[in-house]
Amino acid sequence: MRKLWGGVFQSGTSSLADRFGQSIETDLQFWQEDIAASVAHVHMLAKTGILTAGEAKKIEKGLEQIHEEGPEKLPRDVEDIHTAVESRLAELIGETALKLHTGRSRNDQVATDARLYFHNNLLHVLDRIKALQAEIVSQADLHLDDLMPGYTHGQHAQPITLGYWMLAHFWPLQRNGWRLEKAAALSNYSPLGSAALAGTSLPIDRFLTSRELGFSAPIPSALDATSDRSWVLDGLHCLALCMIDLSRLCQELALFSGHEYGFVKLSDEVTTGSSIMPQKRNPDFAELIRGRTSQAISYWVNVASMMKGLPLGYNRDTQDDKPPLFASLELVEDSLNLCTQMLAGCDWQAEKMKAAVHGDFSTATDLADGMAMAGIPFRKAHELTGRVVKALINEGKTLEDLDSESLQRLVPEAPASALKNLLPEDSVKARESYGGPGPKAIKEQLIHAQQLLKMAGFAQVL
Ligand code: ARG
Repeated sequence: MRKLWGGVFQSGTSSLADRFGQSIETDLQFWQEDIAASVAHVHMLAKTGILTAGEAKKIEKGLEQIHEEGPEKLPRDVEDIHTAVESRLAELIGETALKLHTGRSRNDQVATDARLYFHNNLLHVLDRIKALQAEIVSQADLHLDDLMPGYTHGQHAQPITLGYWMLAHFWPLQRNGWRLEKAAALSNYSPLGSAALAGTSLPIDRFLTSRELGFSAPIPSALDATSDRSWVLDGLHCLALCMIDLSRLCQELALFSGHEYGFVKLSDEVTTGSSIMPQKRNPDFAELIRGRTSQAISYWVNVASMMKGLPLGYNRDTQDDKPPLFASLELVEDSLNLCTQMLAGCDWQAEKMKAAVHGDFSTATDLADGMAMAGIPFRKAHELTGRVVKALINEGKTLEDLDSESLQRLVPEAPASALKNLLPEDSVKARESYGGPGPKAIKEQLIHAQQLLKMAGFAQVL
């Protein structure tokens, strides 16, 4: 295996040790970031007079050529991407390549590359969050009035509408976008030029490279810069939260598409069949997202336990921070795209949802509210309503059957006005409190979501 050292050694590492220590396969994902960081570094070396303009130009040209050639031309018999790029550079431009590593180390290089990669890939994730939010908003708009049961404890609780349910999934995404933006800002500081751990005696300018690479500033301590991976944990935490929220959406879609609910038919694009039961339409992708959320959570646990008790200074342990980080980014991006596809292809069964609400006593709260409006203390109204529900069940009737005569009979103190919102559609219409499903309140919520969607980035909402 090609190495960047050797002077002090008598023999090479064993082939097992080589294989065990290699990170090249993972590193290839950030080959472009590695080149970008080297280009910024060489610009700085020229500006500070550490390299001549001619030497710097030659190195830069070589790096550009490596970029044009693509990753296929990079050697694989190396430990990592830094070694691969430097070896290829030497093949292309000869001796001058050996000057690129002046005033830096792989320790600051790898930390720089990984931060750049995180930043670049987070942009895709943020973009995908917006796309899913856009799908939610447009679907919600179409289904603002479609009645469906609202659940607590998995039981019919109060009638809501499909648009109302849909929009409830908009806000977790908004919070996740906001959190990820904060994680991106926190990670956006440059380790480059920290060298191994203690800076360098060469007159480098870390502010120059930091600026050129789009970082907010260089990290003030070279020792901290090469050791810190807390930004990886911030990222993994936010990504895991994102998955947790998506898993909840997926769980609902899986339930709603089942025979017992029958609220939605998922499109063929995101449904699989069974090899034995010809009638099956399985929501596999919703299940996979739900299941893989555990991976996103474990990635955080993986890196957190790796970092616990790790002394300052570069430790090889941290080479393994990248597979979980990259995997989490990919998982979240794919899951967001799949959720968008799933929602876009949903065939909602409005009649079925509406039928599920009728006769389910889910407007009992409205009867109690009606009594409370007439001056009966709510606690008492709750109790009286319970009695009405019990009597109706015994008579084989529903709340929709309740007329003023039977109400008079069952609860003499209740006024007929308490019957006002016992039909599910009336119940929904009446719940106009901020954040409720009533027509004005839901329109207000929809407009709020539409405005946030139009903004660049993610404003804090709660
Ligand atoms: N492959 C290493 C990593 O990913 C690069 C830094 C190696 N530094 C060292 N001193 N061995 O962390």
